[in-house]
Amino acid sequence: MSDHSQNSLPHNPYGHFTPEHREFVITRPDTPAPWVNYLWNERYQALISHVGGGFSFVQDPRDNRILRFRYNSLPWDQPGRYLYLHDGHEYWSLSWVPTQMLVYDHYEARHGLGYTTIATARRDLWSEVTYFVPREQALECWLVKLENRGREYKRVDLFAYAELCLGNALNDLINQPNDKHFSQVRFRRDWRALAATRNYWKNTRGVSVEQPNQDWPFLVYFATTLPQEPDGFDGGKDHFIGRWRSEANPAAVQRRRCFDSEITHGDPCVALQHGLELAPGAALTFAVLLGVADKTAADEQVPPLLQRYRQGGAVAAALAQVKAHWHKHLSVLQVETPDAAFNALINVWTRYQTAVTFDMARNAGYYHGGLLFGTGIRDQCQDLWGPLLAEPAAVRARLIEVASYQFADGSTLHNYFRLARTGERTGHSDTPLWLPFALMNYLKETGDFALLEESVPFYDHGEAVLRRHLTLALDYVISQLTARHLPRFGPGDWNDTLDYVGRGGAGETIWGAAFLCYLLREAGVLFDHLGDRETARHYRAVYEQVKASINELAWDGRWYVRGFKDNGEAFGSHRDREGQIFIEPQSWAVLSGVATGARAQQTLRSVREKLMTPFGPQIVSPAYRTVDPAIGLATRCVPGKKENGAVFNHAAAWYVCAELLHGETELGWQTYRDMMPINSSSRAGQDRYKTEPYVFAEYLTSPEHPTAGEASHSWLTGSAVWMLRIGTDVILGLQPTYQGLKLDPHLPAAWRRVRVRREFRGTIYEIEIEQGAKFEAPRRLLVNGEVCDDDVLPQRPGAVLHVHLQRRVAA
Ligand code: NOJ
Repeated sequence: MSDHSQNSLPHNPYGHFTPEHREFVITRPDTPAPWVNYLWNERYQALISHVGGGFSFVQDPRDNRILRFRYNSLPWDQPGRYLYLHDGHEYWSLSWVPTQMLVYDHYEARHGLGYTTIATARRDLWSEVTYFVPREQALECWLVKLENRGREYKRVDLFAYAELCLGNALNDLINQPNDKHFSQVRFRRDWRALAATRNYWKNTRGVSVEQPNQDWPFLVYFATTLPQEPDGFDGGKDHFIGRWRSEANPAAVQRRRCFDSEITHGDPCVALQHGLELAPGAALTFAVLLGVADKTAADEQVPPLLQRYRQGGAVAAALAQVKAHWHKHLSVLQVETPDAAFNALINVWTRYQTAVTFDMARNAGYYHGGLLFGTGIRDQCQDLWGPLLAEPAAVRARLIEVASYQFADGSTLHNYFRLARTGERTGHSDTPLWLPFALMNYLKETGDFALLEESVPFYDHGEAVLRRHLTLALDYVISQLTARHLPRFGPGDWNDTLDYVGRGGAGETIWGAAFLCYLLREAGVLFDHLGDRETARHYRAVYEQVKASINELAWDGRWYVRGFKDNGEAFGSHRDREGQIFIEPQSWAVLSGVATGARAQQTLRSVREKLMTPFGPQIVSPAYRTVDPAIGLATRCVPGKKENGAVFNHAAAWYVCAELLHGETELGWQTYRDMMPINSSSRAGQDRYKTEPYVFAEYLTSPEHPTAGEASHSWLTGSAVWMLRIGTDVILGLQPTYQGLKLDPHLPAAWRRVRVRREFRGTIYEIEIEQGAKFEAPRRLLVNGEVCDDDVLPQRPGAVLHVHLQRRVAA
């Protein structure tokens, strides 16, 4: 679909989107933070910054790290995947870092979908390195193009380097002097590759003195596709880097000769040296391969794989496959609206961001070290709503995985570690409810009700079909209600930092109550659809009970309180000096139908009046300045950041949704527009905003802190999936229901025409929505030229249906 509105995107001093928005081009390397991208498939997951920094892992960033990452390091984001060139006079890195003190003739990085290209030039040598993970193998490729644009013949040495972790990254961090006794790296002349492995693996716990009697079952290989044998290699970091040096001046690079070190103890690395010759005008293309094989089968697995990738064109073909994959992924939904930022996010970047959050949870990133959280069930059950558009089979499998962490009583682990199959049973009050939320969204999108009949084991004992998992989750939370019909706060709800409100067992959550109401109402719709009227009636009855309690007990006059502490005292009330109003209960009271009419109006007005800032609405105001041990972490956090009064995008998105569904389309859209990262970075100023302008960040600092407008924790945030689905399901109004796709847009009045291509259960809808004062009827829907009186579009799997909606709006 063509794009005519590129010019209306705000200027960014560090880069820009390409015309079709498929790449973000970074034009200068000194960005205010590392701007990253993800490269991954089911078997191998990696992160790379625009200057080559980053790490990788297999399945779990805590338990099975491949490339090492140094926390709290300066310069940021080191180490990484480094390629050095030595031309006989000087040496430099092809990704700017770690030789960034040098002057480069050219720098540009392109973050694309599943690949990153970094181009630099020095001393007439132009390079372009494209990093990607092929669709199938546990492998990363660095596709290198070198060109001699000078008039002289060049004989250069290329050094490809990466630092290894090999296994448990937490152990590596806290126990390295002992942990370094198990690694080995050696050069396999028969493979023309380095091979690294270790004899000991701890993958069962976080911090523990336990020493499992266990091998690391993997082997890492590092090779190039160049036809000649390397001129040198190193497996020991201390050898390659040398004494009292760093990646900026490795001894091997400086002396132009690797040490050919093989190690049986120490800090492992992989480094290969190749002498290359380039006549004036000549170019050379080859790849560096870093892969993971099964240790016991490495002799069978690695040589054929190397042979395959060493054939001409194989690496480029693998890159083409990655691009084709993302093209297909995105093609199921493409929109053309008058807003270029909206198009860029909905067509490309927020879709891609939700694919990342789906696979990385809130776990592996620059702001999430991957050592602590594992996969959060609450997060996962929201994030899967994004890739659901394109990859329902993967989402189905993930739902089954998540359900396998539910206990037979309907409660769940709060988070889990995929490899170890362990996690924590924290007792957060909302966590069990997100499984029904996710299942309902899956069913509405796919109509695949057979999933409900799939039998899935419980985490503790027994098994049941997913329909039972769903009701058990609801019933468990209902069984825990207090005598006042409100959910217990427990050690926290969605807001992880209200973690001491309910430890005594008596505290109650009003956001949790509204969220439960939303699900109970949805359960009524689902069970009616399934023909089980009795169950539907039951959940509706509980809905009415909880709704009545919220309205009787939690209405504070102009908004809803956030909850009740263990001692029965309300908080998030006008009576509080700090933390008077929280955004979450207001939004969900509207979304759940708990607040209607004047009360819904008032509660949203209070958000606008009390919480709105130039960067979006704060999560709470005024931020806490006094520690309240009966509330918890939020009150210990610096005011204006994180859950203590930042513009917390995830919660802000719910507010946007509530405004839109309440009929305040313009207000909802304005906040949505301001929250889009390319816009919020421009409003704050990119140097202040800091993080990537192409993906949502978890929060922006609010004016309650001197660094107002600064963003943090980019990429891994639930705001991505909510902003996506609010954009598609609410603003564009393509709303999946059990019956089919309902068309109910909430477009800003200034949008006169919108085009959408949406695949849904096999039918391809080519939709055009027109708005204006000129239309006679308030609403006219045509499908293939015929008037359609139903909101739900007809389905014709395999066919293209042309849908035309005309709406009369005020001039
Ligand atoms: C990030 C956590 O991953 C998410 O689960 C939580 O809901 C939000 N923080 C808010 O505390």
